[in-house]
Parts: sequence; structure tokens; C-alpha cells
Amino acid sequence: MSKIGRQLLAAGLIAMVSLLVQAQGWQVPKPSPGLMPNPAAGKTLFAKHCAACHGVDLKGSDKGPPLLHRIYEPSHHADAAFQLAAKNGVRAHHWKFGDMAPVPQVTPDDVAHITAYVRSEQRKVGID
Ligand code: HEC
Repeated sequence: MSKIGRQLLAAGLIAMVSLLVQAQGWQVPKPSPGLMPNPAAGKTLFAKHCAACHGVDLKGSDKGPPLLHRIYEPSHHADAAFQLAAKNGVRAHHWKFGDMAPVPQVTPDDVAHITAYVRSEQRKVGID
């Protein structure tokens, strides 16, 4: 094969792989550079988008688990887990509530605020 042919083939392969990676949702959404995650803003966003299942007080409901739980401490579920949960949903694996559906209404910035709120509530009860 000619040199240009090999280059085209390589470029095509790279494009295909990156499309696949995006389609699979492997990329963790990133908040805007310089964003200061704000727990107070996160509390409002959480109440609107997450509390129906995770409980207004983060203690869970009949539709979803408590986030004030050792399982969700930062070393076990890093902030990326929140971004991925909102973007892709979650396949049930720790509990018996079923899968979490994606929450497309929230932006990566919203999720960063929500995560800051969850972390500050977790710290209050010694989960950190
Ligand atoms: C319709 C109900 C529902 C809503 C709304 C919901 N969740 Fe969930 N979420 C669940 C369930 C159920 C699980 C547990 C899945 C399991 O591990 O069994 C879960 C798990 C999670 C996890 C753990 C992910 C992991 O990797 O194990 C995070 C983080 C999370 N949710 C964050 C959020 C955030 C942030 C919002 C709001 C933007 C939200 N959830 C809205 C039902 C919900």
C-alpha cells in the first residue's frame, strides 16, 4: 500500500475508535474550567433532579439509595461517578432499586455543584 494510503487508513481508524469511545459514553463529562462548585446551588439542583429517588435529606427513598452512605464516600465513588451517573445512568449493582436512568437535564456544571453539596453533607456525618 502507498504511504498516503496507510496514512488515510490510520486516520480513519483513529476517527472510528474515538467515535466508538464517545458512543459508549466512556468520557467523563467535565465541568467548565475555573468553576467553583457551590454546595448551596447544588442543594437546589439536587432537590429538583435527584431527591425524588435519593431523598431530600440524602437518606434515600423507595426508589433509590441514600447517598449519605459509606458506599458513596469519595474513595469508593469519586466525583467522576456522579458525572457518569447523570450522563449514562447507573446499572443496578449495589442495591435492589433497579437501574438509575440518565438525567439529561443537568449539565456537567450542575453535577459539580450537586457533588459539592453531597460531599459537604457527607462530611457532616463523618463520611469522607
Ligand atoms: C429515578 C430515580 C433516580 C434519580 C432521579 C436519580 N437517581 Fe441516582 N441512583 C438511583 C438508583 C436506583 C441508584 C443505585 C444503583 C445501584 O447501585 O444499585 C443510583 C445510584 C447513583 C449513584 C452511584 C453511582 C455508582 O457508580 O454506583 C450516584 C453517584 C447517583 N445515583 C447520583 C445521582 C444524581 C447526582 C442524581 C440527580 C442528578 C440522581 N442520582 C438521580 C436512582 C436515581
